[in-house]
Amino acid sequence: CGIVGYIGNEDAPAILLKGLSNLEYRGYDSAGIALLNSEGVHVFKEKGRIAALEKHIDPSIHATLGIGHTRWATHGEPNKRNAHPHQSASGRLTIVHNGVIENFVQLREQYLQGVSLKSETDTEIVVQVIEKFVKEGLGVEAALMKTLKFVKGSYAIALLDAENPDMLYVAKNKSPLLIGVGDGFHVVASDATAMIQKTRRYVELMDGEIVELTRDSYVLKDLDGNVQEREPYTVSFDAKDMEKGTYPHYMIKEIDEQPAVIRRLLQNYTGKDGKLATDTAIAEALNAADRLYIVACGTSYHAGLVGKHLLEKIAGIPTEVHISSEFSYNMPLLSKKPLFIFISQSGETADSRAVLVKVKKLGYPTLTMTNVEGSTLYREADYKMLLYAGPEIAVASTKAYTAMIAVFSVMAATLATAKGLTLGFDPVHEMSLAALAMEQMIDEKAQLQEIARDYLSITRNAFYIGRGLDYYVCMEAALKLKEVSYIQAEGFAGGELKHGTIALIEDGTPVLAFATQEAVNDHIRGNVQEVAARGAHTCVISMKDVTDRPGDSIILPKVHEYFTPLVCAVPLQLIAYYAALQNECDVDKPRNLAKSVTVE
Ligand code: G6P
Repeated sequence: CGIVGYIGNEDAPAILLKGLSNLEYRGYDSAGIALLNSEGVHVFKEKGRIAALEKHIDPSIHATLGIGHTRWATHGEPNKRNAHPHQSASGRLTIVHNGVIENFVQLREQYLQGVSLKSETDTEIVVQVIEKFVKEGLGVEAALMKTLKFVKGSYAIALLDAENPDMLYVAKNKSPLLIGVGDGFHVVASDATAMIQKTRRYVELMDGEIVELTRDSYVLKDLDGNVQEREPYTVSFDAKDMEKGTYPHYMIKEIDEQPAVIRRLLQNYTGKDGKLATDTAIAEALNAADRLYIVACGTSYHAGLVGKHLLEKIAGIPTEVHISSEFSYNMPLLSKKPLFIFISQSGETADSRAVLVKVKKLGYPTLTMTNVEGSTLYREADYKMLLYAGPEIAVASTKAYTAMIAVFSVMAATLATAKGLTLGFDPVHEMSLAALAMEQMIDEKAQLQEIARDYLSITRNAFYIGRGLDYYVCMEAALKLKEVSYIQAEGFAGGELKHGTIALIEDGTPVLAFATQEAVNDHIRGNVQEVAARGAHTCVISMKDVTDRPGDSIILPKVHEYFTPLVCAVPLQLIAYYAALQNECDVDKPRNLAKSVTVE
């Protein structure tokens, strides 16, 4: 979910709607806004996208204060009734909320006996409890503080009081929230991308803080009312980085940007001597560890698998990769001196943050690799490495994935140097060649569209197979295809298919094989034969002068064996993109997904 707020002198609806559409990647099950003017509060909400909401807003209502919400449903069906904003019984208080209130049943039983509720949400409980305390005589701010002291769970909240049209209250715990500062106005947003068209200056909120916002001032307090001083910072991107330009979708724009992202990243990580470098403190911390634990979700987890390969092969350090949501309660036995690496495009994924909090409590060093400077995981880790990929808007991650692999290469090369190992290749040169090869593949869009047409137009399922690094690539290829085209896809280790899953192969089942690794080329070719003999429609993607053979469908330009995943990423992403177009799917906002999942 995402929330926005505005208090200023301009017309609030347009600003809130623009903010919400920038945040739509966080969820798009339903949306709503509340406006406050001299006539009172006006609430509009709709199931579905911001565009659906926009049509239902009364254009004759003018207000310079308002709040908004776009929802990824957790509690209650994604319908209009459960859409935010939610109101207290008298209608005086109106709230939007991102997060999960864990003890809402208990709060209801303790404070709201006999109060009839309008929705099935945990959020409504909060606003009703605040009103109960107001009715008992507290001011709104005191009632908000008192309520939040009882609340267990995560929240980013914006609250309107119909009796005070010059004030907007916000509060945060675990869920992300920023205050944007402007000339004569303030904005509230789950992240800076939402309101970047209004301001580049933001104040971070810490957990357990509330803010009173007027048009000209912001006052930060903890839940005991102690005022906290904090200056705004300026974000490094601007509104034009968020635009789609002439591209039909963000996904294809972001796929195209990848070579430039790799080059920018190399520049940012190259020292004066032309050699790759991470911060000395990071190199020392990595060097001091006896084992690295990579923790991530989704596409970032897949980048972590490639990262493990690079760290072990290039830098010789044992590395494990874990899914955040599993690691939380199923922690493996740890080595004596572990270091934790969190990978997260958004830097906000709640599953990953839960692990970060846990291992910090245990006293272990932590490093976050993220695209978003100032995000929660960025702030809370001891060490940080940025992806420099620019805002990624499409829900399906593309350029952040390749940037993560590139940062792992930088990390591995630096660590190897710190350990006095000889690399045997020039990483900057080899990664530059990989960027060039990615560019060449980006120019092959027509060919990749044809592959999507030939293999994926009339199928409900598909398999990707590969060995070694190619196996990890296949896992990402399958995820990308599932996410955007809804074709059921699996990424398999080439040798494993025959141990069960081969039973699914029928006449015409598409099997796409990545074969870029010389050492296992014969083996993966054997696996392709096994499925072809059982009727599969096979497609081989190989590498020129390394693994290519007559009849291969796509031949990638040659790159160093460690950097093949960077080049493979382009065809796997483009095949998924074109398959999604064929299936008439909403490429940038696939059903049921959210880009940044801020609930566990
Ligand atoms: C969501 C997105 C995925 C993403 C994952 C991890 O589930 O839909 O595309 O890979 O979260 O996100 P993060 O921001 O932590 O990399």
